[in-house]
Amino acid sequence: MLLEIKDLKVGFSTLRGPMQAINGIDLHVAAGESLGIVGESGCGKSLTSLAVMGLLPDTAKVTAERLSFNDRNLLKASAGERRRLRGSDMAMIFQDPMSALNPSFTVGFQMDQLLKLHERLTRHERRRRSIELLNKVGIPDPESQLYVYPHQLSGGMCQRVMIAMAISSNPRLLIADEPTTALDVTIQAQILALLREIQSEENMALILITHDLGVVAQMADRVGVMYAGEIVEQGTATQVIHHPRHPYTEGLLACLPETHGDQFMEALPTIPGLVPDLVHRPSGCQLHPRCSYADHICQQHTPVVSDAGEHRAWCHKPLGGQS
Ligand SMILES: Nc1ncnc2c1ncn2[C@@H]1O[C@H](COP(=O)(O)OP(=O)(O)O)[C@@H](O)[C@H]1O
Ligand code: SF4
Ligand SMILES: [Mg+2]
Repeated sequence: MLLEIKDLKVGFSTLRGPMQAINGIDLHVAAGESLGIVGESGCGKSLTSLAVMGLLPDTAKVTAERLSFNDRNLLKASAGERRRLRGSDMAMIFQDPMSALNPSFTVGFQMDQLLKLHERLTRHERRRRSIELLNKVGIPDPESQLYVYPHQLSGGMCQRVMIAMAISSNPRLLIADEPTTALDVTIQAQILALLREIQSEENMALILITHDLGVVAQMADRVGVMYAGEIVEQGTATQVIHHPRHPYTEGLLACLPETHGDQFMEALPTIPGLVPDLVHRPSGCQLHPRCSYADHICQQHTPVVSDAGEHRAWCHKPLGGQS
C-alpha cells in the first residue's frame, strides 16, 4: 500500500479548551489509485492532507497508530526526510494557485529554482525541462510563458503552472486540495481532465479533496466522506455515490444540481444545520443534531462501522440498498 493511515488524530489547544479537529481516521491509497475525500468546509480535509505531507503547524498535536508512505513510518521521519519526500515522492497543489506562486518572480525563475532543488540538471536542461512540463500541462507557447509573472496569468493557467511544478519530480502521490474551487466551471472541467490524464499517464496516486461529490464521481476510484474530523463512509465511488449508506452522504448527494433534473435552481439546497463545535463535540454520533433519522441511541452512542467490507459506513442505522 502506498499510503496507510490508521487512527490519525490531530488536535489543537485553543483558548476555549482542547480541540480534536481530526478524530481518528483510517484511509489508504494504493499506487496509481485515486481517492476522493469529500465533506463540507471545516470537516478536516485540509488538515488530513497536511498531516500526510508533514506540513501541519507546530501547534498541531498529531498521533496515529499508523501513518506510512511506501512502508515508511512518517511519524518517525525527521524534518529533513519529510522535506525530501515532499520534493520527490509526494506533492500537493492548493485551492488558490495565485497565492502559492511568488508574485515577484517569473514562472520560469520559480520553476528553475524548484528543479535546482531536486534534480541534478544543467541550466540549459532545467530550461528544457520547464518548457516540457508547461507543455505537458497544456500551456500554449510554453517558451514565452517562462517570462511572465503570476499576475499576468489567469487562475486556470496559474493552476496549470502549479500542477507542472507539483509533477516536476514525478511524485508517486499527488494531493490536490480543492484544486478547482477558485476557478469557473469550464476551467474547472479542464483542470480535472488534465489531472486525470496526468494521473493515468504517470500511474500516479491522487488524493482529490473537494466539497463536491459531483467532482468525485468523475475522478475517483474510491471515496472517503468526512464529517467533523471523522470518516463517516468509505467505499468505491460507485458504491458511495449510487448506494450511499450514511445519511450525511445522502445529504451531500441531495445538494448536487443533477438530482434536480433540468429545473433551474437559484440556490442549491444545503444540509440543514451547522457543523459541530469541535471543542464541545456532541455526544454519540456527531451528525445527530442534523440527522433526520437520529434517535436516542444516536444521541448517546458513537456509531461503529456497519460492516467490515470495502463499503463501510459509521452509522447506527445505515441506509438500505445493496452495494
Ligand atoms: N492551525 C489551526 N489551528 C487551530 N484550528 C485549526 C487550524 N487549522 C485548521 N483548524 C480547524 O480544524 C478544522 C478543520 O479544518 P480544515 O482541515 O481546514 O477543514 P476543511 O479543509 O475540510 O475545510 C476547522 O474547524 C478549522 O478551524
Ligand atoms: S448514527 Fe444516527 S444520527 Fe448518526 S448518521 Fe446514523 S442515523 Fe443519523
Ligand atoms: Mg480545506
